[in-house]
Amino acid sequence: MKILVTGSCGFIGFHISKFLLEKKISIVGIDKLDNYYSVNLKKSRLKVLKKYKNFKFYKFDLTNKKKIKKIFKNKKFDYVFHMAAQAGVRYSINNPRKYIDSNIMGFYNILEISRDAKIKRLFYASSSSVYGDSKKFPLKENYLLNPNNTYSLTKKFNEDLARTFNKYYKLNLTGLRFFTIYGEWGRPDMFVSKIILSNLKKKRFLLNNFGNHYRDFTYIGDVVEILFRLLKAKKQPSNQILNICSNKPLKLLKIIKILENKIGKISITKKKLQKADVIKTHGSNNKIKKITFYKNFTNFDEGLSNTIDWSKNYY
Ligand SMILES: NC(=O)c1ccc[n+]([C@@H]2O[C@H](COP(=O)([O-])OP(=O)(O)OC[C@H]3O[C@@H](n4cnc5c(N)ncnc54)[C@H](O)[C@@H]3O)[C@@H](O)[C@H]2O)c1
Repeated sequence: MKILVTGSCGFIGFHISKFLLEKKISIVGIDKLDNYYSVNLKKSRLKVLKKYKNFKFYKFDLTNKKKIKKIFKNKKFDYVFHMAAQAGVRYSINNPRKYIDSNIMGFYNILEISRDAKIKRLFYASSSSVYGDSKKFPLKENYLLNPNNTYSLTKKFNEDLARTFNKYYKLNLTGLRFFTIYGEWGRPDMFVSKIILSNLKKKRFLLNNFGNHYRDFTYIGDVVEILFRLLKAKKQPSNQILNICSNKPLKLLKIIKILENKIGKISITKKKLQKADVIKTHGSNNKIKKITFYKNFTNFDEGLSNTIDWSKNYY
């Protein structure tokens, strides 16, 4: 089996690539090594992947349709995991064009070429942010969407475009609405890694909304196991959208307490609400549990300890 993973030097793309490589599946990775956050961290992830004989890597931008086409022609992929995107809600306020280029044009190229290459299924990253601010929890996949920034709008548009490619061209698709994924090799712009890092570097941590946000933190180890089971699952709808979440929202202030018990006092400056942020995310994971039979989600304490151990070792 041959699989293309876009964004293979990113947090989730790296983990799914590594997991599948261990299962002896051939992986081709594409990434442009964007500098939205540490390029060195991306290069370190790539170094790990390059140790596997069944891994090949190409560095380029997904807006380059010619290059993608050439790789598809040469490699004959069975499946695609499209994890490349310009991520980050807050960054989208000042850099909207990057989201249009990578998340709309890049995604469109992958869709079109996957259709022409008749791949078996395209798994693509969406986001919990498509729900926007909501009052009804847990969020189910069929709830109304209310994206309120450029990032979440591009993710919602991806889902809409995917639906039309399924309807008119019979491309099989699975949209993955990730909810705040954390863990080893995590993104330094996201809460868990960011606060651990600021503690290790003895810097003050700026805490938005005075720590009153709730996030449905989901451990990366659970995510890759779920994605692998999805790859194997029989009889899935030809177009589906799935929440990828633990269904256990935690308040950031509570996490800080848990963290302080593990790594000592954290110096914090509390700030008001950031205008692109939603107050709470909490997804239902019934659908994903039904399809994959994955039930034993890692508890936050354990996932956090793993992340701290990795961070102390890496930074
Ligand atoms: N991590 C989360 O909690 C989370 C939550 C919701 C949604 N997502 C989505 O999941 C996907 C993976 O997220 P992640 O946390 O691994 O992000 P990430 O930023 O770590 O990884 C994305 C990778 O894609 C690459 N990339 C970006 N634009 C590209 C382009 N035009 N061409 C080639 N490569 C490009 C980047 O260099 C990066 O390495 C993204 O689509 C993201 O929006 C992630």
